[in-house]
Amino acid sequence: MAKNVADALNRLLADSYVLQLKTQNYHWNVTGPEFYQLHLLFEAQYNELFAGIDVIAEHIRTLGNGSPGTMKEFLALTSISEGTAKTASDMVADLAGSHAALAKTCQALIDAADDADDDASEDLAIQRQRVHKSAAWMLKATVSTSVTLPKAAPAPAKAKPTPKTAPKVAAAKAAPAKAESAPAPKKAAPKRKPASKPKAATKPAPKPAAEPAANTQNPRRRASG
Ligand SMILES: [Fe+2]
Repeated sequence: MAKNVADALNRLLADSYVLQLKTQNYHWNVTGPEFYQLHLLFEAQYNELFAGIDVIAEHIRTLGNGSPGTMKEFLALTSISEGTAKTASDMVADLAGSHAALAKTCQALIDAADDADDDASEDLAIQRQRVHKSAAWMLKATVSTSVTLPKAAPAPAKAKPTPKTAPKVAAAKAAPAKAESAPAPKKAAPKRKPASKPKAATKPAPKPAAEPAANTQNPRRRASG
């Protein structure tokens, strides 16, 4: 295997491993109103990275080289910083930048593999590059919404509230509203036609006739038994 290809594969493995850990770190520690959305997005991305890491390492072994496999080796090889962001927006921005950096690491491998006519390594690098470009796009889209929405909303809310006159006007408007709703039940009261109900009470008398019929069935059974 060409040395340039071997070096590029080792860097891709190290970058991927550090980014996988950083993404899982943020999956655990992200907070805020977008917690659930980001928690799930980060989980999907670190799971994808975990699967990709295994493919890269085993490809290195397939080409006849030993694969880096310790954190010391990965930290020496990688260009990706470990996760230190504390806010959700900083985490998303950090991950987006790391995926963009990994897309460049993939490009270096693509170029090295192309020069060495190593189609398998080039194909692997192209597939990984597509993943990182997609992840960077998703993360950048999330950053743009989370940053603009909170800052734009509070501004108009502060300009509207006026001093002490505002609550009085609001109270005056609220009072008539209640008066309008109150008369409704009073209109129902003046109707004194419920007198017709007692007449109805006298009519249900014929119903009890059906009940004795039901009671007579048991005595007949007892008699026959
Ligand atoms: Fe989890």
